[in-house]
Amino acid sequence: MPMRHPQLNEKGELRHLLTIEGLPRELIHRILDTAASFVGVSAREVKKVPLLRGKSVFNLFFENSTRTRTTFEIAAKRLSADVINLNINTSSTSKGESLLDTIDNLMAMHADMFVVRHAQSGAPYLIAQHIERMRGHAPHVNVINAGDGRHAHPTQGLLDMYTIRHFKGDFTQLTVAVVGDILHSRVARSDIHALTTLGVPEVRAIGPHTLLPGGLEELGLKVYTDMREGLRGVDAVIMLRLQNERMRGALLPSAQEYFKHYGLTEEKLALAAPDCIVMHPGPMNRGVEIESAVADGPQSVILDQVTFGIAVRMAVMSLLGQSQA
Ligand code: CP
Repeated sequence: MPMRHPQLNEKGELRHLLTIEGLPRELIHRILDTAASFVGVSAREVKKVPLLRGKSVFNLFFENSTRTRTTFEIAAKRLSADVINLNINTSSTSKGESLLDTIDNLMAMHADMFVVRHAQSGAPYLIAQHIERMRGHAPHVNVINAGDGRHAHPTQGLLDMYTIRHFKGDFTQLTVAVVGDILHSRVARSDIHALTTLGVPEVRAIGPHTLLPGGLEELGLKVYTDMREGLRGVDAVIMLRLQNERMRGALLPSAQEYFKHYGLTEEKLALAAPDCIVMHPGPMNRGVEIESAVADGPQSVILDQVTFGIAVRMAVMSLLGQSQA
């Protein structure tokens, strides 16, 4: 019998969202279609619906965030849920309470969903496993990974796919480049799994040798260390931040040198398809991986990504809220 994906229940419904790796293509499309159903006539207008009325969503951000934490809060409120933002700095984790003891206490307060960001890869898995072990003794609680270490950022991957579909339509006709610090990027990992699952025929990885992980070719990617060569004819370019906080040792000569070779400038963007869209998950470092003229230019969809994140996070939470244990 084939192994069931750990984040799906026996019916193939989402039980937790921990990673895009291994999610069926149909389920990704279902999430994107559900997100689209929450968007009004204008792409910026998101409906308020009662799908999570009476449920409590706990935002547990053990690492800083602007976009993800805020859009999860807006999304949960648009679904009519109660939202509790735990202030980690003033919580008892700062007194040495373990992660799972914190979870048990929040479950005793009738949490229905945990949105977890953590510097340690695997922390959301640990919580989901703990909840699964308590099955039968505790209520049905869902876990959403809001970014764990360098492992995965599945809702960012999904909102990136929503953005590409919104602007480009059919995934199966596209060439997409992911550029920069792929080695340390959970966003890159989630995007690459999503793009290949959705049938994008050409996914390119562009960056210096020191920031490219092994195994990209095995995933079906074309690898480029020359950015100009890698950008030729691409339909979408996803720029990544240098994850200095996750680097061990000197992997780059300097930020100026990096910008010269791997910074997205108008001159380099001109090598891509004329209607190429420019994406970045944020936070952006202007003058390091992207110049302001491009970040704020007509091909940039960076702020659209943020807006689409609300509907996509609503879709994930509403599908989780409807799933059975
Ligand atoms: N893209 C992203 O995860 O941004 P934040 O760190 O602001 O949440």
